[in-house]
Amino acid sequence: MTTEVEIELEAAVERRRNFAIISHPDAGKTTLTEKLLLYGGAIHEAGAVKARRAQRKATSDWMEMEQQRGISITSTVLQFEYRNCQINLLDTPGHQDFSEDTYRTLAAADNAVMLIDAAKGLEAQTRKLFEVCRMRNLPIFTFINKLDRPGREPLELLDEIERELGLQTYAVNWPIGMGDRFKGVFDREKRQIHLFERTAHGSREAKDTIVELGDPRLEKLLDRDLYYQLKEDLEVLEEVGPALDVEKVHSGKMTPLFFGSAMTNFGVELFLNSFLDCALKPGSHNSTIGEIPPTYPDFSGFVFKLQANMDPKHRDRVAFVRVCTGKFEKDMTVNHARSGKTVRLSRPQKLFAQERESIEEAYPGDVIGLNNPGVFAIGDTIYIGQKLEYEGIPCFSPELFAYLKNPNPSKFKQFRKGVSELREEGAVQIMYSADESKRDPILAAVGQLQFEVVQFRLLNEYGVETHLDLLPYTVARWVASGWEALEKVGRLFNTVTVKDSWGRPVLLFKNEWNLQQVQADHPELQLNSSAPVV
Ligand code: G4P
Repeated sequence: MTTEVEIELEAAVERRRNFAIISHPDAGKTTLTEKLLLYGGAIHEAGAVKARRAQRKATSDWMEMEQQRGISITSTVLQFEYRNCQINLLDTPGHQDFSEDTYRTLAAADNAVMLIDAAKGLEAQTRKLFEVCRMRNLPIFTFINKLDRPGREPLELLDEIERELGLQTYAVNWPIGMGDRFKGVFDREKRQIHLFERTAHGSREAKDTIVELGDPRLEKLLDRDLYYQLKEDLEVLEEVGPALDVEKVHSGKMTPLFFGSAMTNFGVELFLNSFLDCALKPGSHNSTIGEIPPTYPDFSGFVFKLQANMDPKHRDRVAFVRVCTGKFEKDMTVNHARSGKTVRLSRPQKLFAQERESIEEAYPGDVIGLNNPGVFAIGDTIYIGQKLEYEGIPCFSPELFAYLKNPNPSKFKQFRKGVSELREEGAVQIMYSADESKRDPILAAVGQLQFEVVQFRLLNEYGVETHLDLLPYTVARWVASGWEALEKVGRLFNTVTVKDSWGRPVLLFKNEWNLQQVQADHPELQLNSSAPVV
């Protein structure tokens, strides 16, 4: 029998879509986010998100800014309504904020939007983020941006995605011309052409002019050569391209692909409509008591991100929880799986950009921010009812390494405590040299910001001044085959062996090329770019 709670949960899940944008800096993430919010009515004039970001950029010292504002550095989730759906856009910190949190956010997402600059194609950060999506078989929707500027051939871009990412593509729409001669896109399903009209930076919702494919005016509207080019491209697509297979999209094997121009707001609405039709709703999660559907009546969720307030006067932390099952209600008391304690969740927050807003309830697929009095760590499960724990969030391959030195021996205890607590919280990974004579901890981070945060917090919260000794490595791989396998291989050049916080062997390489060489020479070494937290 279906209970009232289950009916409520089903309706909430049915309306929810949650996604994160993966892209390289400058591809247009801020611009696209803004245009999406515009359609959702969350902002009324494009420019708001950007203005806020500009304010942030204007302050060179982010910590100073952090102190002034007294709140967290990055926004975490943007919520808006469109077509009666509630959309949660999880913000993936990029640029100077790029850190392990960027990867962790993807653990809380049900879908990803891969945003690509048409002139540049796939770029480094997008590739890395894609790999994390692939680990979870996330559905990926691709938006190829900046068609109003000269870019690469569309077929070439499709080919690059297929070849390099091993991801099948299905172009939902197809561009007609590019740059100065960008005329619009062809919607393959409806067989209509949306004509592009330049608006002033697309600050309002774009009004498309739609023309049917068979319309005799087309040859003239599009220019003869572009019209024939479109026909030719469509023939190629129909002949060699696969049909749209929603199951493959949902298992992350095929990406629906869209062309547009976020800045001029062109193609964004087409994209959003298709995305809503095809994206995954909040789904089941693996746990210690099996796979749990979102409609499971008891509330549960996991922590995917912790944010420390840098203001020493307000030393709170916010733990961001992805709601997996049941209904969250303000002031509810939940169980904390790792410690076995109960915690009352007062002052829950929803974050819209930088403004905190208190929330009363949340459903599967939503994200809530909890004031964290130090109980929560990344990957922790909170639940009501029968005990369960979700699979933890793994450690991701760091790219920056430095010995962390404490020059003042009298501060040894504080130093050790601080390092250990910051590690537990997930602010940074800590590794140690396999050479026992080198005792200093090695900070291992995905982004420079993580180093700054650790040093800043050690000084402010533990009273320890530290300095860093950078190491010349950029790639880390866990040796899944273990210490013995590593010893058998003997000395490896241009690499160093370290151990992670659990004593597992990790190889650090100077660059990707060195890694590939070792992999080719020693296929018996099973090298992984992530490792479970134990
Ligand atoms: P990011 O968050 O991914 O880093 O990118 P962001 O949106 O800030 O966009 C980076 C630059 O690319 C911006 O230019 C933005 O205006 C431009 N851009 C984004 N989408 C499009 C598009 O569809 N067409 C064109 N032609 N440009 C686009 P900027 O010069 O850095 O900033 P601004 O002066 O425009 O504010």
